[in-house]
Amino acid sequence: MTSISNPLKRIDHKTPIWLMRQAGRYLPEYMEVRKTTKNFLDFCYDVDKATKVTIQPVKRFGVDAAIVFSDILVLPDALGWNVEFKENIGPVLQQFKSKEDFKHLQDNPNDKLEKVYEIIRKVKKELPNTTSLIGFAGSPWTVMTYMLEGKGKQDFRVSKKFVYENKELAKELIKFITEKTFYHLINQIQAGADIIKIFDSWSGVLGEEEFTDFVIEPTKEIIKKIKEFCPKTPIITFPKGAGFLYEKFVEEISMDVLAVDMLVPLEKMKQWSSKVVVQGNLDPVILLTNKVVIREKVHKILSTLENNNFIFNLGHGILPETPPENVEFLVECIRNYEYK
Ligand code: CP3
Repeated sequence: MTSISNPLKRIDHKTPIWLMRQAGRYLPEYMEVRKTTKNFLDFCYDVDKATKVTIQPVKRFGVDAAIVFSDILVLPDALGWNVEFKENIGPVLQQFKSKEDFKHLQDNPNDKLEKVYEIIRKVKKELPNTTSLIGFAGSPWTVMTYMLEGKGKQDFRVSKKFVYENKELAKELIKFITEKTFYHLINQIQAGADIIKIFDSWSGVLGEEEFTDFVIEPTKEIIKKIKEFCPKTPIITFPKGAGFLYEKFVEEISMDVLAVDMLVPLEKMKQWSSKVVVQGNLDPVILLTNKVVIREKVHKILSTLENNNFIFNLGHGILPETPPENVEFLVECIRNYEYK
């Protein structure tokens, strides 16, 4: 067995925890800052505000990691692609339809991404040194689906049809995004990110062949190149919804941490945790319930995964209607859990 170590290891050896979308609309202190800038992307590039909201959940809950406040769509935005966030709708983008559209993509991102790196440098200075800072990007496939669909709440028909009908062009586009994603991640590491995460929110819509070409291969490529330059930086991958293909993903990719969604069985996580640190997978809806249900679920997860290479997290992002007290209680349950 390879020796693996938990990048969020705590001195008290308790299970570390952080939550996807931990800085967000469920926190009144986030809403206070958020309401001062109308446009979401402007908010993401505002160094002082983004720094402030990145640190809020660390201050309030004492979670073991902060994730830089940004979005996966800042990358296409900085490459000159038209990206907008519309209130109550979500992201709306220019649609990639043909080879011609490459002319709308710059080879070098504009200086908007510098703001993200500046936020990382600033957060790093303000964060306790026991709290890790996570930088991130969307996976090339997930970012590409937004560029192909042109919107957020998609059913992926457009992206999949495009891939089936224009495989070579789709490969050209994913190659382009893969390269830019690599630079974006490396720059975040250089600015001070301790760990990086690749969010593949829509990996679960592809069959095996396309999953291999558009999810596995680009992820492998990014990890290989990052390990060449920054071998010590742990990489978290999150192929959300990959189902049975999680198995192939784990076999073929050497990530440091495998984040899983709530449909992955705990016993499967336990099995993988002998070769990779696993992260997940509480249903975010559990945080809308009550203390009895939360405690029961936390105990179930920890009794299967304690003493293993495990980071507590949700199976997907925290919901905007989550009561912050429930998050506080969740962290308390994990900290007070009596290990066998
Ligand atoms: O706390 C954190 O996790 C850090 C910040 C973060 C955001 N987006 C902020 C955000 C992270 C890590 C993301 C990643 C992201 N963005 C993903 C991958 C993870 C996932 O959720 O599957 C995806 C697919 C996106 C794209 C995106 N951004 C969508 C589809 C939307 C609209 C839906 C929504 O929740 O509103 C966003 C907006 C967004 N990104 C918000 C936040 C806090 C809400 C906007 C607001 O505050 O007005």
